[in-house]
Amino acid sequence: MNSNMSPENPKYKLIFLGDQGVGKSCILNRFLNDTFEEEYQATIGLDFQSKNVQIDNQDIHLLLYDTAGQEKFRSLIPMYTRDADIILLVYDISNKDSFSNLSQWLKDLTNVNMDEVILCIIGNKKDLSGNRVVNEEEGQKFAEEHDFIFQEISAKTGEGFSDLFYKQLFEKIRTKFRPSGQQPVSEINDIKFNIDQEDNKKSTKRKCC
Ligand code: GTP
Ligand code: MG
Repeated sequence: MNSNMSPENPKYKLIFLGDQGVGKSCILNRFLNDTFEEEYQATIGLDFQSKNVQIDNQDIHLLLYDTAGQEKFRSLIPMYTRDADIILLVYDISNKDSFSNLSQWLKDLTNVNMDEVILCIIGNKKDLSGNRVVNEEEGQKFAEEHDFIFQEISAKTGEGFSDLFYKQLFEKIRTKFRPSGQQPVSEINDIKFNIDQEDNKKSTKRKCC
């Protein structure tokens, strides 16, 4: 399952899953470019991007697959989950159905060995607290029941990104896939997340999805 080519050239395949409109593409844009776009442009089929990060002073190549939430593209997903190392399953804290549907998303991962992947449950749109219909505790409980990473974030403001990627995901990569690594995750210094709303407003408009 682990897509490492060799100890010198580690690669990890990340795949974003979740209902239409929960914010998968915007999360990826915040992660890669530190930008956000309000206008919704549905992903068609699948988007692929990549990024290098450093873990334990070694370049790690992340292969990032952004899937389409629309039903008509669902049949494509098993092709990409088959050899995934990390699955980021996203719901929208202001959309109850997107949370209820997490169980179905998990059931559909029939070709995934859950012992070998890292699975993260992500509650996105944390900035929409006035419209919240899923409590943080509900998300946390769901993730704990399955022993998954859990984090609420906002792709709009950048809130929660450092905790999700630095503190949780990269640390888990280090302990699960790279158990001999000695250095703490704080050594990872490749990515900065802009959590300043004013800076967000100033950022250049770009296509989100
Ligand atoms: P599909 O590609 O159709 O599966 O959707 P998606 O999950 O990729 O959603 P996308 O990233 O395109 O975002 C959908 C809408 O939600 C867009 O209008 C975004 O601007 C908005 N959005 C995404 N993340 C956030 C967030 O954290 N906060 C708020 N307020 N809106 C968000
Ligand atoms: Mg998308």
